[in-house]
Amino acid sequence: MDALRQKYLEMVGAARDEGVLEDVRLAALGKKGEISLKMRELGQMAPEVRQAAGAALNALKDEIDTALRAKKAALGDAALDERLKSEWLDVTLPGRPRRQGTIHPVSQVTEEVTAIFADMGFAVAEGPQIESDWYNFDALNIAPEHPARQEHDTFFMARAEGDTRPPHVLRTHTSPVQIRAMQAQGAPIRVIAPGRVYRMDMDQTHTPMFHQVEGLAIDRDISMANLKWVLEEFCRSFFEVDTVELRFRASHFPFTEPSAEVDIRCSWEGGQLKIGEGDSWLEILGSGMVHPKVLAAGGIDPAEWQGFAFGMGIDRIAMLKYGIPDLRAFFESDLRWLRHYGFSALDMPTVAGGLSR
Ligand code: PHE
Repeated sequence: MDALRQKYLEMVGAARDEGVLEDVRLAALGKKGEISLKMRELGQMAPEVRQAAGAALNALKDEIDTALRAKKAALGDAALDERLKSEWLDVTLPGRPRRQGTIHPVSQVTEEVTAIFADMGFAVAEGPQIESDWYNFDALNIAPEHPARQEHDTFFMARAEGDTRPPHVLRTHTSPVQIRAMQAQGAPIRVIAPGRVYRMDMDQTHTPMFHQVEGLAIDRDISMANLKWVLEEFCRSFFEVDTVELRFRASHFPFTEPSAEVDIRCSWEGGQLKIGEGDSWLEILGSGMVHPKVLAAGGIDPAEWQGFAFGMGIDRIAMLKYGIPDLRAFFESDLRWLRHYGFSALDMPTVAGGLSR
């Protein structure tokens, strides 16, 4: 009995995990365990012997059982301690600041412009950036010998060898969308077309890729007066001021007659660009009454319909509104610049709710 006690208590003490401990339990107290078998032998004993042996065996069984349970609890605690040591988390650490992206000023201003013109009943139209020679030039009454077609201004696409058709171009303005929109919708029509345009030019206010928004309004009796009101109304709303000073300068475009370029009063003092003051003017758009040949190219009868069109530089008005002096920085993807001039993704510009707040 003492030998059994010593053997099993030692085995319990030595068990390193719950699996081994269970093996010890089965070897001692399981159905075919050593102590269980001894219990069974009691039946063959003489009654006087059986009584004493039975009591001693039961005590031994209880003792080993208690040791097994205690050891099992200790092993469980140790395993938990081990997990707590390896899986801890310091909830007092300071949070990491979240690096949030920002909306680029060009995207922001495009949304603002769209919101304002939507309020005046203009829908958004789109066209491809790789445009055919016909849509970019011919349909807009730009003759083959016009300087805008020359290599120094326009990016021409490569042609397959032997292809004698005029090459496609990277559109040099958003005006081809006028033709596409007229063809698709007919008259009356009121659309704006924001998007990327391309010209070989690079300085503080020019980049080879930039953004324009085209405007087109055709009906039976639309005049220059409507154009002037729409543009002044737009500028007041866009620049969020009561008065902006615009200068309509007589000009020439092949696709409008008469034509006007519009400048806005600004100042460059101390390298800062400000609107509404100073004695500089920055050209922001070209405009005019849509040429009859352009209406015809768009499938609209010029004897019945007339209207205005304009093309405005989105990057230009972004520079003006947000005081950004160099256009080239717009497209350098410098994170410091983007964080400084970018807008929160959650501020959708609306005319009623505020454009840039
Ligand atoms: N397409 C002209 C440009 O790129 C702007 C313009 C558009 C002028 C519509 C008149 C009418 O400069």
